[in-house]
Amino acid sequence: MRGLLLFVVLAVVNAVHVTIYRNGESTDGVQVEIKPEDVTSGLTLAQHLSTFLPVDGIIDGATNVKETVADRVYNGNGIIVENYDQINENERLYLVAPDLLFVWPFVEFGHKVSVESSQSPTQKPIVLESFNESPRVFLIHDLFTNEEADGLVNRILEIDNEHSKLQRSYVGHENGLKKTSTVRTSENAFDSESEIAVSLNKRAFDLLGIGTYKDDMADGLQLLRYQQKQAYIAHTDYFGVHTSPEWNWDPKYGGSNRFATVFLYLSNVTRGGQTVFPLANMPEGISHAQVPDESELSIFEKGSWEEDMAIKCHTKLASYPRKTHAVLFYSQKGNGALDPMSEHGGCPVLDGTKWAANLWVWNKRRYGLDGDKISVTFQNNFDHPIQLFWSTTFMQEIDANSHAFFESYDNHEWTFKDLEGNELLVHRLAKPDGTTQTITVPQSEKPKDEL
Ligand SMILES: *[C@@H]1O[C@H](CO)[C@@H](O)[C@H](O)[C@H]1NC(C)=O
Repeated sequence: MRGLLLFVVLAVVNAVHVTIYRNGESTDGVQVEIKPEDVTSGLTLAQHLSTFLPVDGIIDGATNVKETVADRVYNGNGIIVENYDQINENERLYLVAPDLLFVWPFVEFGHKVSVESSQSPTQKPIVLESFNESPRVFLIHDLFTNEEADGLVNRILEIDNEHSKLQRSYVGHENGLKKTSTVRTSENAFDSESEIAVSLNKRAFDLLGIGTYKDDMADGLQLLRYQQKQAYIAHTDYFGVHTSPEWNWDPKYGGSNRFATVFLYLSNVTRGGQTVFPLANMPEGISHAQVPDESELSIFEKGSWEEDMAIKCHTKLASYPRKTHAVLFYSQKGNGALDPMSEHGGCPVLDGTKWAANLWVWNKRRYGLDGDKISVTFQNNFDHPIQLFWSTTFMQEIDANSHAFFESYDNHEWTFKDLEGNELLVHRLAKPDGTTQTITVPQSEKPKDEL
């Protein structure tokens, strides 16, 4: 009897039981037993666990094949599991597919996780508090200090560079042109240089659990001022997949776009100024400040979008500004899909001034870095017009013996066709060929040995 009992005890020692989930998910978990031999490395663990729970990875645009085998396993503390001893009995593990970034799971409302950051000036771990599942939102505590908040507000007023100083906010880059908008009335400045801005960018990478900071994956810190009445109507932070033809904006197909936003509150606001998520279901246990009354609403034009928003902001899911607090939300899901639920707005300030900052992290090298651009002249030397396509998108017709000019990027594919649709040339741009290139049809024939 005793011998048998001992045998049973020994037999269970060398296995651990966990529940595995797809990246960023808290439902549809699968219970799995893991043995030491399954974990010769982090990669073998990921491959092994994918046999119980195939992941939903990015789609190869050329073959249309979706990645189903993970290459990293994260635990609930946002740390990559590399060996057996790291795994605790009954813990939750998350499978992340190649070329995708870890997305914090929601787990449940109010769930808290502490994250260590070498950059933290508070001497305390950063705390992530689960706020909403879809869109994915977290309240962030101890990311930065009162002094840093004051430092950034002072920066906002000091920056006097023409391009980055405090000015009316722009929305998006449409055909490379900056546009102001009637539905975004805040003012902003950009800070990508100050010590605080750089340190906050690095802290954001630690907070997200996505590895070492890469400056080409972050926009500069956008510093904001909303005075009384000012607001930003609900919008997404990611760019539409058709924003511009020379860039792959769709992360599901290996492209690059905004991945997550960390929104920092640099001041308290007397009334209003919430960050609202109008598409979210209101979870239980959330209390709102009192809906603004007639006299508070009298600062707005009757029937204006600001007035309407000020009311809705007190009924929808919203995070209230509080100095040194921040809110984290994701523009992308754990499988690389852009998340339209991530729509959010900056509620009108009813009383006081709201100082804040936006910190955007991309899933890959971001759009708009000068070093990536290739200026191309497409020269048509035929005696007839031809058609020019970027990937499969028709761009324009080029007249006989004429040319067209485009800003494009490394590895982008351009196709020339005649007017009957016959392919004349497919050309993939390569950065080593120079930042200014001319592509000519018909190509001049050169014997190979001349090259
Ligand atoms: C901001 O408001 C909170 C209460 O919501 C308070 O604890 C904190 O001291 C305030 N900070 C400042 C700088 O006024």
